[in-house]
Amino acid sequence: MALPGTVKDRKGVASATPDRVRFNPFSPEFRRDPYPVYAALRAREPVKRVVGSWLVSRHADVLAVLRGRLFSSSRIPELVKRRGGGLERAAAGDYGGIESFIAKAIVFTENPDHARLRRLVNNVFDSGAVAAERPAIEAIARELLAQPLADGGMEALADFADRLPMYLMCHRMGLPREMGSVMRDWAAEARMLLDPTLMAPADFASVETAVREALACLTGVVEERKRRPGNDIISILLANRDRDDRLSEQEVALTCLMSFVAGHETTKHLIGNGILCLLRHPDQEALLRAGPALAASATEEVLRFEPPLQQTKRVAIADAEIGGVEIREGEQVLLLLASANRDEAVFADPDRFLITRGDLQAHVGFGYGMRACLGGGLANLEATIAFELLFGGDVRIELAADELEWQDGAVILRGMKQLPLRFR
Ligand code: HEM
Repeated sequence: MALPGTVKDRKGVASATPDRVRFNPFSPEFRRDPYPVYAALRAREPVKRVVGSWLVSRHADVLAVLRGRLFSSSRIPELVKRRGGGLERAAAGDYGGIESFIAKAIVFTENPDHARLRRLVNNVFDSGAVAAERPAIEAIARELLAQPLADGGMEALADFADRLPMYLMCHRMGLPREMGSVMRDWAAEARMLLDPTLMAPADFASVETAVREALACLTGVVEERKRRPGNDIISILLANRDRDDRLSEQEVALTCLMSFVAGHETTKHLIGNGILCLLRHPDQEALLRAGPALAASATEEVLRFEPPLQQTKRVAIADAEIGGVEIREGEQVLLLLASANRDEAVFADPDRFLITRGDLQAHVGFGYGMRACLGGGLANLEATIAFELLFGGDVRIELAADELEWQDGAVILRGMKQLPLRFR
């Protein structure tokens, strides 16, 4: 591997290497296949200045930022506000939904608030709670596959991968399924706050409407569960205690909204990307068909090889250094998780999709450390069951399209627009 360039220039004309890497996440080539660009970044400009941010592409550097205390997620709301332009100047209450979401949702909070929230929600996401969902996930997945199997095909994203996490979340929260697609659509708007680069100031009004309506709806459900508790996760979250501390009703509603925002599209694309990876690597599909117990490690390999969440952000809370490059307090850092997952310094033969790898534990598809994905276990089990059912029987699966298009609605997410399949 080439040595990294000496990257010091504060204006971002940053590399001593003459051959600078072009990074344009909006280009169709990058959408189709971002991995050669990531490889070039790791080799030539591992910490690279781009408009307003630093790109970090090597596994060791990504991990160092996620592990360390010098970078925070709690400053992301400031970036959102800056992007929103009028947000600061708006009349009090105009952006009340967005304000409460970015002030209190677990993704944006810092310790001690962050640790407190994780303690109070942990028991609905821990390994015991996830394992208990296996029968429900299997039942929903079988139900969704029944008609497509009879019909001889499906559009795997709309018919299956979109609905499985949506219906499971409704089931866990005790919501009617009809509410699932409404929550999904509100959450898709709210998710823009995690990817504010793509937001024009005018988008903030529609995001505010979506967040406000979603929170009003969920608050109604939370109040109802307070009066009449059940065995759903909303009732469990309301009953949770840490000594004298408990979640407020608003925090319970925000946790539910956050689950849809962080967990729906990501899980959908984990399933979609996984189906595609297996179909494009027939030797690995054959291994899985011969040993369905490999479905869990196939899921991990999809998270490494084609992760639905390609990057995450941090802001430096003090002057810091990454891979020998100075980062100033307040600067934004984009951690290229998908690049770290292909780092040849950590993974043998990183560009091969291999479901029996021994080095899978090192992937950062669910992040790392105290902010690692809260719902990772659940998403993992949903995808594992999807692959068990799809590749565990006698039905042969084929792609029913020559060309597939990757979604272009979000920079941080990677998944297809459609995935038509034929069953035989
Ligand atoms: C394939 C599916 C998923 C992927 C790839 C994924 C990925 C991630 C990643 C990479 C992070 C860390 C972000 C960071 O460090 O900035 C994260 C955090 C988080 N995820 Fe997931 N996620 C998935 C599914 C879910 C689900 C199903 C839920 C909830 C039901 C969920 C809830 C969260 C929450 C609340 C956080 C923030 C944790 C914190 O800040 O402490 N995710 N996720």
